[in-house]
Amino acid sequence: MKRGSFNSKLGFILAASGSAVGLGNIWKFPFEVSNGGGAAFLLMYLFFCFVLCFPIIVSELAIGRNTKKNAIGAFKKMGHKKWNFIGKIGVFCGVLILSFYTIVAGWVLGYVIEMLAGNFSISNNFSEYVNDVDKILIYSTLFMFFTALIVSKGIANGIEKAAKILMPSLLIMIIALIIYALTLPNAIDGIIFYLVPDFSQINLTVAGNALGQAFFSLSLGMGMLITYGSYVDKNTNIINSAALITLTDVGVAFLAGLIIFPFIFSSGIQSDGGLGLIFEVFPKIFEGLGSITGTIIGSIFFILLSFAAITSTISLLEVPVSFLVDEYKVRRKFSVWIVALIILLIGIPSSLSQGKNDFFTNFITYYGKEESIDFMTFITDVSNDTLLPLGGFLITIYVSSVWKKSNLSREISKGNKSYQGSIMEKYINFSINYICPLILGTIFVLTFFNKFFGFS
Ligand code: PHE
Repeated sequence: MKRGSFNSKLGFILAASGSAVGLGNIWKFPFEVSNGGGAAFLLMYLFFCFVLCFPIIVSELAIGRNTKKNAIGAFKKMGHKKWNFIGKIGVFCGVLILSFYTIVAGWVLGYVIEMLAGNFSISNNFSEYVNDVDKILIYSTLFMFFTALIVSKGIANGIEKAAKILMPSLLIMIIALIIYALTLPNAIDGIIFYLVPDFSQINLTVAGNALGQAFFSLSLGMGMLITYGSYVDKNTNIINSAALITLTDVGVAFLAGLIIFPFIFSSGIQSDGGLGLIFEVFPKIFEGLGSITGTIIGSIFFILLSFAAITSTISLLEVPVSFLVDEYKVRRKFSVWIVALIILLIGIPSSLSQGKNDFFTNFITYYGKEESIDFMTFITDVSNDTLLPLGGFLITIYVSSVWKKSNLSREISKGNKSYQGSIMEKYINFSINYICPLILGTIFVLTFFNKFFGFS
């Protein structure tokens, strides 16, 4: 069986950026910012992305391209089978993420339909809407169906082609919405809130959230970049690719804020910035724009979210599929549909956890906390804020102490002749050996005990 590959460098960059740019940027990022002191959060987030995460992105891509294997098989191929548990944690984490991501993507897809129909009042009944579980599961299944259809067509004909259409469209919609948002009255107050830091808001919880958000948003720490890296040829410049992916991801998250905050401040609607920000507040804002403008802007907004989401679900599905295809020689089409079905089933508890079912709604109470949290929040705590940073940490340990920096350098310098001896090489090596394990390890341990055991 011939292994797939990307046809062009641009196709690879678009697909990998497509994975990174997702609901995390547009749905999650703004409310993390508003909960974390505006720009204070933003600054920390930028630091994590560029300083801590960048060397790990480079490492994942290098491991993938070096081995031409999936997230688990890569470690075996390099002769360190014992370390493939890193890949196993990654695949497991990806499955968890995709299970709830598909549910939220289902909410989004449903909203496209509601907006097209001009049904803005849906926002008053958001909890009714998400608890109409049968309907939501139909939307989520539909979303998963499109995802699986694309992934089943393979790397160049499926994933790459989709990214080449979806990513440019996404960009156009974002720009159109920013231009519109900035013309709204009081837009500037939103921008000020977004960009002026309030450092008194920074604490361990906020730092932990910023770290989790950086990993989640960059699709980092679960082997996605190992997998996509394995479909890339030797002429591709890994450093430039990693830089482009990071810049696109951070750029889109930043731009999303330029849409979200002017809209909120100009509407004068109070929001606690929670999950409901986009689903409960935005339709009200669109309604205030008048029925025709509201329908157009509202539809574009939720179509944009769907496009961002599907390039991410594609990559999340590809990780376990690539593992089955490589290691067990399962046919791509077969593994795609089986994995998609299993993940849909795993997502059902998440869809029931927003009030429909008592057990999943009050799923767990962390040690020392008063309030219980729902199943979906619990899964995001485990996957986004725990397993992803843990995966990233383990990769740095693996590269620095097992694979060794000389091998990393050799792989990166293919397709980047001037790398060896450069400042970039010194920076990457120093980070992977010292900065990443130290800072990442410290924040990880502290936030882990903070989150689950109330340690402050
Ligand atoms: N980066 C995606 C987002 O921001 C989510 C994602 C996480 C995708 C991990 C793939 C792997 O929405």
